[in-house]
Amino acid sequence: MLKKVFGSAIFGVEATTVTVEVNVDNGIGYHLVGLPDNAIKESNFRIAAALQNNGYKIPGKKIIINMSPADLRKEGSAYDLTLAVGILAASGQITADYLEDYLIMGELSLDGTLQPIKGALPIAVKARQEGFKGFILPKQNAKEAAIVNDLKVFGVESIKEVIDFFDKGIALEQTIINTREEFYKNLNFPEHDFADVKGQEGIKRCMEIAAAGGHNIILIGPPGAGKTMLAKRLPSILPPMTLNEALETTKIHSVVGRLKDTGLMSQRPFRSPHHTISNVALVGGGSYPQPGEISLSHNGVLFLDELPEFKREVLEVMRQPLEDREVTISRAKFTVTYPSSFMLVASMNPSPSGYFNDPSAPKTSSPAEMQRYLGKISGPLLDRIDIHIEVTPVPFEKLSEERKGETSVEIRKRVTAAREIQTQRFAYSDTVHYNAQMNTKQIRKYCVLDEASKQLLKAAMERLNLSARAYDRILKVARTIADLEGAEDINGAHISEAIQYRSLDREGWLG
Ligand SMILES: Nc1ncnc2c1ncn2[C@@H]1O[C@H](COP(=O)(O)OP(=O)(O)O)[C@@H](O)[C@H]1O
Ligand SMILES: [Mg+2]
Repeated sequence: MLKKVFGSAIFGVEATTVTVEVNVDNGIGYHLVGLPDNAIKESNFRIAAALQNNGYKIPGKKIIINMSPADLRKEGSAYDLTLAVGILAASGQITADYLEDYLIMGELSLDGTLQPIKGALPIAVKARQEGFKGFILPKQNAKEAAIVNDLKVFGVESIKEVIDFFDKGIALEQTIINTREEFYKNLNFPEHDFADVKGQEGIKRCMEIAAAGGHNIILIGPPGAGKTMLAKRLPSILPPMTLNEALETTKIHSVVGRLKDTGLMSQRPFRSPHHTISNVALVGGGSYPQPGEISLSHNGVLFLDELPEFKREVLEVMRQPLEDREVTISRAKFTVTYPSSFMLVASMNPSPSGYFNDPSAPKTSSPAEMQRYLGKISGPLLDRIDIHIEVTPVPFEKLSEERKGETSVEIRKRVTAAREIQTQRFAYSDTVHYNAQMNTKQIRKYCVLDEASKQLLKAAMERLNLSARAYDRILKVARTIADLEGAEDINGAHISEAIQYRSLDREGWLG
């Protein structure tokens, strides 16, 4: 008997429906065709055990399974359930009249329980588009699939439930979540809040500016100063995610199987890869391409803690995606693109020993050590960081003060207002949405200085020995400071403040 079942394959962040034809006939043999990878080829062992442990079997007949489209690589073990149900139906062990109405996926354990799959959200999106009545999948992935409206999602724990559903008409429990309601409810409850950071008013102000203009930022300070604590809170003051942004980001996390029983992400992501990370893990890739950390940070924050410790080549591969806000991975037969629009926050110690010019420090570094250390981060990547700020530890007395700081949601209101001004300013552009993205022409147009401010900036450039590349960055940051104030024109106060945020350009650092 010939039966058809449906699964799905992930390609980038999109899914393609895979048709699985199972034919069971007299004879002997088990043939799986249509470009399956090894994990699928091994599936017959898992299927055999799972069926046996539930009172069924792979029949001793000639079984031919064809997966199409044939030119699409089908990877992973997520087709176990698809194949198993197809075999049961095609061999007449179960009746399954409505098989073709459902998309069925899941990895089987030997006892027939289901293991989670990757990409449940994009698969559900596609299933809805193609008019499937329902999506049967492992319970662990049910919430992310249920984000999609107008598709019945059935999270199951074991193949037995699926068999009983088709064969005996025993209803499956439908997973229903009100995506929008849940999303908006969680929007104003960030996981980490700036209210927890005592003191550090100057740094908080600086991060507010970074968030408001989308400026990449580097925090420089000794261990324990609070750099990680501050960086973690940046997502909470960025404008609240739109439903569309949330969907984009959640899809990427779904594709790598990182959503653990969660629905739509309501907080911007914060990713903090270790400095030993490989190129592929950072930007994405592999023989079956997967998104990397820069894409998992999409619409959120990528934190590179201890920037100088990262391998230079790893930082190099990040440059293009940082510019393009997406990463393209090419293979002989196909190309996939993952979005990667993130804010970069970096941190570093002032020197390899952790301290700089501090006589009370346990160990200071020689000028040669300093040069080597800072040399690693100079150049192209640093060129994309508008704001440098030194973080000094808050004294103990201040830390023990009870007073709570301003909450992230309050700060975020000001950031959002400043972003709205920018959205209007750049409404005509497809590529530029906020101040940090301005090109030279736009800087000349939107960052016009009066004579006094011009003189102020000129004097500061000479006095502090600022580099030419610092000039445009100061203008962009000054624009953002003015926007936060709702000011049409940039004035001297805006410029003076922006000049403070160029620590690494000053003598004694990168020179
Ligand atoms: N301003 C602060 N307010 C409250 N706690 C702080 C502050 N600064 C540092 N801490 C505490 O010190 C710890 C170390 O800070 P951390 O962010 O890890 O420092 P760094 O990354 O600079 O080494 C934090 O977990 C936090 O508990
Ligand atoms: Mg840290």
